Parts: sequence; structure tokens; C-alpha cells
Amino acid sequence: MRITRPAADARVPLEQIDLTDTDLYTDGDAHLVWQTLRAECPVFWQNRGDGHGFWAVTRRADVRRVLSDHETFSSEGGTAIAMLDAPDPAAGLMMQSTDPPRHRKYREQVGKPFSARAVPAYTEFVQRFVKESMEPARDGEVWDVASSFVRLPMALCAMMMGLPEEDIDPLLRLAYASLAPHDPRYSTHGAAKPTAGSAHYEIMGYFARCIGDRRRNPTDDLTSYLMSIEVAGRRLTDEELLYNCLSLLLGAVVTTSHVINATIIALTEKHGGEGFWPDAMPTQPAVEEALRWASPVTHFMRRARHDTMIVGQKIAAGEAVTAWIASANRDETTFERPYGLDFARTPNRHIVFGAGPHTCLGRHLARLMLRSSFAELCAAVESFELADEPVHLASNEIAGVVSLRLRAKFRG
Ligand code: HEM
Repeated sequence: MRITRPAADARVPLEQIDLTDTDLYTDGDAHLVWQTLRAECPVFWQNRGDGHGFWAVTRRADVRRVLSDHETFSSEGGTAIAMLDAPDPAAGLMMQSTDPPRHRKYREQVGKPFSARAVPAYTEFVQRFVKESMEPARDGEVWDVASSFVRLPMALCAMMMGLPEEDIDPLLRLAYASLAPHDPRYSTHGAAKPTAGSAHYEIMGYFARCIGDRRRNPTDDLTSYLMSIEVAGRRLTDEELLYNCLSLLLGAVVTTSHVINATIIALTEKHGGEGFWPDAMPTQPAVEEALRWASPVTHFMRRARHDTMIVGQKIAAGEAVTAWIASANRDETTFERPYGLDFARTPNRHIVFGAGPHTCLGRHLARLMLRSSFAELCAAVESFELADEPVHLASNEIAGVVSLRLRAKFRG
């Protein structure tokens, strides 16, 4: 997604806003749209023109409330705009599409390998991956940072789940096809026929084969771990296993690398095309600011369980409410200079990983990947310049970059 810095008083006419339009995120100015909504219409009805629509909240306080108040807003009726038109087949089966109290039971078990204590074990893997990714750029060749780093979370996920290396690229492609079905690089049927559903089925078919293999030859990877856990006194059914493998893969794979991309783009913009690492870069506050800046997940959705009010606006039972996390992270009532990239910002009250019971399960892993990647990049690369204009992912869910071609000057 293009990350812009709209002037404080800039607005767009409300009737021109279409939050579903993927062009808004590639060539348009989503930050200007969200700034307008925060100022003029914090609970906005997005009419899709077919008699259907959804609510959009854009202020941090409202986004937090919608994501965390599970008694009012359910995750079982679809969690993204793409799921507006049909019941969510994963409701009650996949952790993310399940409300408490059952959600808590999934989370207690599924969450163990992702705890703050467990993830440092992957540091060396990440460091090695980043070092190897930089190698081809050392001879002065143009380096597509986005293409290199997009493989990092997928490679880590494959290692954790015990998936063969040759499956990394096909799975990566399917993960993006399912979250950015309109992007011409990932859509297999052209923009007119999105591929989200078929990509989901292909990923689940893949995991069905993995699970069959594990039944014949048990292993000690994450896939076998998921097969062994008990939730509410019984093992997961095959359907639950497949949905949760899908959710882990999608959650892990399509987000983290875009924080690196967005940070590099911002640093090159600062100096007219050439970028340098600031001294603060590998520190934790810098990583948190990079996360806020990039906000790779634009929104998540909930359904009102009963009639309720948000800032004086009635929301009827069953209506969909989208919570725009990327907007919340620029809320001028929370963040001083919200469009300033300030690596020393503390406190940093971003909600990039969501809020409430569904707060990102992979946040420790994401932070580890980012801290280690930035540390390796800062240690090796002195400066970098854009070789081409970045190309942005056509998605209203993921603020992503598909191509970021650089020339890097290495130290020493
Ligand atoms: C910068 C990277 C990441 C961002 C911005 C991010 C963002 C989010 C957000 C906002 C949610 C809340 C969903 C909701 O409220 O419905 C979430 C949930 C989740 N994320 Fe992440 N995520 C990231 C990385 C990861 C990674 C590396 C994993 C790998 C395990 C992961 C797995 C999950 C899962 C499984 C959930 C569902 C948790 C639940 O329902 O309890 N995410 N993520």
C-alpha cells in the first residue's frame, strides 16, 4: 500500500470513498481517506452499491473496542471484507473465527509454540536467512528486497511446520492468492474472477496430505504438535486441523516482510531516493515504530451480536463492522505527529497486532523476525537507493509491496 503523509486539513468527499477498491491501496491515498473518516465520519457506512454494505470505524478507541469486545462483536461471521457475502465456513472451527470461551481453549494449546519464551529459538534461522538473502546484492546487482524478504516468514513457517523447502514458493503464492485475489501477480483467473476460495482449498488440500503423512510417520514439528493437542477434552477434528493450519500459514506469511519494505521506502523518501539507517534502527522502540508505520494488516471485521451504539451511531444485530487498524495507528488524538516516522517514539500505543482475545498469536515471532532482520541489514548495508518505483500489492486487507528494487552499498 502507498503510505502517504496527507496535510492535516486535507479531506476527500465522503461520497467518493470506497474502502473495498483495491486501487485505493496501490495508486490512491488510503491514509487521506482514513484521515477524512476519523475527522468527519468515525462510524461510516460503506455502501457497496448492491444494497449491501458494512460499517467502518477508524478511530483508535473504536477500533480497539470492536476488536476486543467479543460479547458485542463476534468473530464467527467472517473477519474480513472479503467474507461479507457468505457465512464463514470456519466459524467455531478455526481459532480466529471462534469467540470466547471456546476460543480461549484453542488459544491455550495452539499458542504454546508461539510464546515469548519459545520463539528466541528461531533467531539463528532468521539471521542466516537474511545474510543469505543479501548475498546476490553484494556485487552491485539490483536487489528486489520485497521478493527476498517475502520468503522469510514462509521459510520460517515451513521449518516450524516441517514442510519441505520446495513447497515454500508454491505455498507463498497460494497464501497471497487467497489474501490479494485481485492482484494481477497472484490471481490465477484474472481480476474478474478472484481466487481466494480456490486458494484456501488448495492450501487445505496440501495440509490434508501433510496430516496423512504425519499419521503414517509421526514427527516432532508444529504440524504433529497440532495433531496431538486436546481442546475441551478431545483432539482436533481433521476439519479443525486444516482450518488452523491455514490460519497459521496465512497469519504468518503475508504480513511481516511488509514492515521491512515500508521502512526502507520511508527512509529513501526522506533523502530523495537514497536511504541510510538511523542510529536507533535495531532497537525495540524503532521496531515498534516500523510496525506502526507499516501497519501491514489494514482491517479486521466483526458482526454485531445484538443492537449496539458506536459514537452515537446505531449498529443493528448482524451488521458487519470493519475495524481499520492502519487508520487507528495514525489517530492524531493518540499519536503526536502521526505521519512522522519517529524511531524513538515512546510510548508507542499502536495496535498493529489487534486487541483483545484475538491479539496476534504470532506477535513475538514477528518481532523476532523484524529485530533480527533490521540488525543484519544495518550491520551489512551502509546505504541504499531505489532502482525503480516500488510496486504495491492490490489488496484491501494487506498493506503490502510486491516489488522494491534497490541498489545497496555494503559496508567495508
Ligand atoms: C507484522 C506481522 C503481523 C501482523 C501485523 C499481524 C496482525 C494480526 C492481527 C491484527 C490479528 C488480530 C485478528 C483479529 O482480531 O481477528 C492477528 C491474529 C493472528 N495472527 Fe498475526 N500478525 C502478524 C504476524 C503473525 C505471524 C508471524 C503469525 C504466525 C504464527 C501470526 C498468526 C496469527 C494468528 C494465528 C492469529 C489469530 C489469533 C486468534 O484468533 O487468537 N501473525 N494478527
